[in-house]
Amino acid sequence: MSSGRLTGRSALVTGAGSGIGAATAEVFAREGARVVVADLDKAGAAATVERIRDEGGVAEPYAADVSDEAEVEALVDFTARTFGGVDVLQNYASNRGVVAEDVALAGADASAWARQLGVDLMGCVFTAKYALPHMLRRGGGSITNASSLVGWLPLESRPAYATAKAGVIGLSRSIAVEYGRQGIRCNVVAPGPIVSPGTEGMYTAEQTEVLAEHMAAPRLGRPDDVALAALFLASPDAAFINGHVLVVDGGMSAYAPMVPSFRRLAREE
Ligand SMILES: NC(=O)c1ccc[n+]([C@@H]2O[C@H](COP(=O)([O-])OP(=O)(O)OC[C@H]3O[C@@H](n4cnc5c(N)ncnc54)[C@H](O)[C@@H]3O)[C@@H](O)[C@H]2O)c1
Repeated sequence: MSSGRLTGRSALVTGAGSGIGAATAEVFAREGARVVVADLDKAGAAATVERIRDEGGVAEPYAADVSDEAEVEALVDFTARTFGGVDVLQNYASNRGVVAEDVALAGADASAWARQLGVDLMGCVFTAKYALPHMLRRGGGSITNASSLVGWLPLESRPAYATAKAGVIGLSRSIAVEYGRQGIRCNVVAPGPIVSPGTEGMYTAEQTEVLAEHMAAPRLGRPDDVALAALFLASPDAAFINGHVLVVDGGMSAYAPMVPSFRRLAREE
């Protein structure tokens, strides 16, 4: 069901060839936005665009590496030329290829850190840098960047990922403060565990069970859960919301750490 909340808007979604980014591009197109579906993975971007067009939506695929400033400049330029401007920017690109190298800090590898920060953080910097002038020209715009629960509740491993995702919050709030009076809103979605191609194989069956145990919800998350939160933030309904971090985690961060143990003890009594 669409209520046309983004009708007439030109949207750029990065990481839109898979998972949450793809779901966001689809939801936004359903709500009337014309969407540039950007991803390093050309085939993934093309598949998302095909699904959008099958539903009668308007979208164009674009292959770009968001960690490369010149490629991002060309991507934003393409969006502005194709759809007449840039009103909405959504950043979901994430470098999953670094996972195995993102180890405890004593073994930190500078190249792995650079690649993680390059995509997950600098991708947000570059896209905003080039999209902001277009938004300002039209009197405003909305940016949403993907952080993660891991940005402030780190797992035992993946310090570079946690740092990138914490940085996304600082960056987004800086943009909100710096440009808010000129009509720019910049918010953050911070997902908990969402079942997506990006998390496939990341957790063992036992670990998935532990995750489920820590949900204040009957299931793990789905890409649409985040896409619909992002839709709210990008829509006029959120006109007075800026610099906000919207946690989409099925209540996971509301959990006191001892609750699952208490539950287990209660079952054993
Ligand atoms: N899935 C989760 O549990 C979860 C939890 C918290 C935060 N997040 C964040 O949400 C976002 C989306 O997650 P997802 O699970 O849908 O991921 P995903 O791996 O399914 O999709 C990420 C996309 O980013 C693209 N990408 C990678 N490097 C790129 C680059 N250099 N330039 C352009 N595109 C590039 C990939 O090709 C892929 O299509 C990410 O930022 C992720 O960190 C996800």
